[in-house]
Amino acid sequence: MDKERIVTAMSLKEDEDQTLRPQTLDQYVGQHDIKEMLDVYIKAALKRKEALDHILLYGPPGLGKTTLAQIIAHELGVHIRITSGPAIERSGDLAAVLSALSPGDVLFIDEIHRLPRFVEEVLYAAMEDYVLDIVIGKDHESRSIRIDLPPFTLIGATTRFGDLSPPLRERFGVVLRLNYYTDAELEQIVRRTARVYQTEIKEDAVLALAKRSRGTPRIANRLFRRVRDFAEIIGDGTITNEITDHALGKLGIDHNGLDRTDYNYLRSIVEKFAGGPVGIESIAATISEEITTVEDVYEPFLMQEAYIKRTPRGRVATEKAYQALGIKYYKGLLDT
Ligand SMILES: Nc1ncnc2c1ncn2[C@@H]1O[C@H](COP(=O)(O)OP(=O)(O)O)[C@@H](O)[C@H]1O
Ligand SMILES: [Mg+2]
Repeated sequence: MDKERIVTAMSLKEDEDQTLRPQTLDQYVGQHDIKEMLDVYIKAALKRKEALDHILLYGPPGLGKTTLAQIIAHELGVHIRITSGPAIERSGDLAAVLSALSPGDVLFIDEIHRLPRFVEEVLYAAMEDYVLDIVIGKDHESRSIRIDLPPFTLIGATTRFGDLSPPLRERFGVVLRLNYYTDAELEQIVRRTARVYQTEIKEDAVLALAKRSRGTPRIANRLFRRVRDFAEIIGDGTITNEITDHALGKLGIDHNGLDRTDYNYLRSIVEKFAGGPVGIESIAATISEEITTVEDVYEPFLMQEAYIKRTPRGRVATEKAYQALGIKYYKGLLDT
């Protein structure tokens, strides 16, 4: 199960450490283009004393969507209310959240693709005209009343851009896609984490940790905490390269940040389906996982690192995957 996975990008309880979240755009590492644009939009909104345009943040888990939403509110000097698509079950839930906002506030809806459709429809008018249309009464007795809302900024976050309905998508003035972080950016994040935790870390250990964090700050921070435990117990508290190597070895993470689950996935394509192309349904069935988990959690990093490719006929394992598995690659000679 993914819950046991150290390198999952999904949030685990241990990740909910608010002290690690950067507070300002300046402290937020990487995502250069996004920061540059947001900086302009925030300053413009402040200057005009208007609510910032609605913003949609999308990208794989653990890349800093929630963090960025909090930073935006902080930079605007407004409050942020945090909720999520699945938490809003009825339009009344949404009405309650919206009517509690003060002018200029940020409403953050995580996993916004999971908002029920009829709730979504209430959101349209709220986003466009800052009004709330609610129906009261039943059947032929029912009538609609309109309530004015203060101007506010909706920030939506999603890992599945494609699952968002087009009318909702169109109502965001700003759509930003977060990308995986480079090793150099993850190194900065690891150094920052070390400072926050007041832990000494050797430079070669910084590089090793960054390299095995799968482009994902959440994983970098989690690995950091695990390695720090080892450093305290088997060392003198300083995180060295040897301790990092030892700890990550114990945790089953190889030098490229791959773990057993990744290898199971790759092996299923290579050994059971001759390297592909194979449909996601078949892979999911073979490794006993849900399709959405495979798509959202397993595949993005493997795709990003070119272990697999997505083709119209299904997933294909690349030469890099064969190398990782230590299996001879001859696929390319047979077909293209
Ligand atoms: N750009 C960044 N710079 C520094 N730390 C970051 C950055 N993005 C994310 N983090 C760290 O990674 C953790 C996960 O980020 P989060 O915003 O919860 O991701 P998401 O909402 O996209 O799943 C945060 O707690 C934060 O400490
Ligand atoms: Mg989040």
